[in-house]
Amino acid sequence: MEIQIWRELLDPYQLAVDELTCKFNHLIDEYHNRNMYCPIESVIGRVKSVASILEKLQKKNIPFEEMEHQVEDIAGIRIICQFVEDIEKVAQLILSRDDIELKSEKDYIRHMKPSGYRSYHLIVYYTVQTIRGPKKLQVELQIRTMAMNFWATIEHSLQYKYKGNMPEHVTERLTNAADAIIALDNEMSLVRNEIMDAQNSSQIQMNLVTDILNSMENLYKLSNKREVIKIQDEFYRIYETHDLEQLARFHKQLDIIAEGYRAQAVTKNI
Ligand code: GTP
Ligand code: MG
Repeated sequence: MEIQIWRELLDPYQLAVDELTCKFNHLIDEYHNRNMYCPIESVIGRVKSVASILEKLQKKNIPFEEMEHQVEDIAGIRIICQFVEDIEKVAQLILSRDDIELKSEKDYIRHMKPSGYRSYHLIVYYTVQTIRGPKKLQVELQIRTMAMNFWATIEHSLQYKYKGNMPEHVTERLTNAADAIIALDNEMSLVRNEIMDAQNSSQIQMNLVTDILNSMENLYKLSNKREVIKIQDEFYRIYETHDLEQLARFHKQLDIIAEGYRAQAVTKNI
């Protein structure tokens, strides 16, 4: 087979990798622009090299005509997350899209491979538009944490180095490292909750400040202007303490004051 034909064959796969990488990067932007926590840390993609494809055909005894059907990872996308919990979220995000259709999934996180490999895999169908019309092809999506990725990258290099004859002491080290990665991911999950808490309280504070500013504005219309200026000074003082409870108390007091003014206004009108 000529190199030109390989290129023609692989072109749509490159398009799929480029499009999907671009789409996932836009998801990251969307989260960031909305000040939301992003479950995706980074995205990388690649088209399998001709040498690797040939090696796989040979190893698995796949006839060339069956290649596009049986080699599921010609197009590969790797999505890296910070925390294990993000993986599930990313998988749901992917499965709810209407440009991606699920073929199969493999959960090597719940069911770690004997090597110690952990990752969540989805084989999906994705359609690209070529000069010959639409082409539906398969893409392998690997979703894993930064820690899992670290382990897999190192293990892959060692596998490559030893070509199936990994010395016992290296295998043992890798098994220990895999255990350490599980412990690390678990530790990081605890930090994740703290991050979520922090984001949550910052959202609460933002809403509270908005409410307080609205209340002060209303009060300014109803009451003694000098008094509202004093209230505003008090607000700035509390705001600088970053104490959410104090802010909430201040908000309540403001409500009571506003209620008093409203009651006065009603009495006057009677
Ligand atoms: P491959 O022929 O390797 O593609 O395996 P498969 O078709 O049986 O699929 P599997 O789900 O086992 O593996 C898919 C991909 O996951 C591989 O191509 C690797 O990128 C990755 N992978 C699977 N097992 C391991 C492992 O033990 N170590 C590392 N580093 N990567 C792995
Ligand atoms: Mg593979």
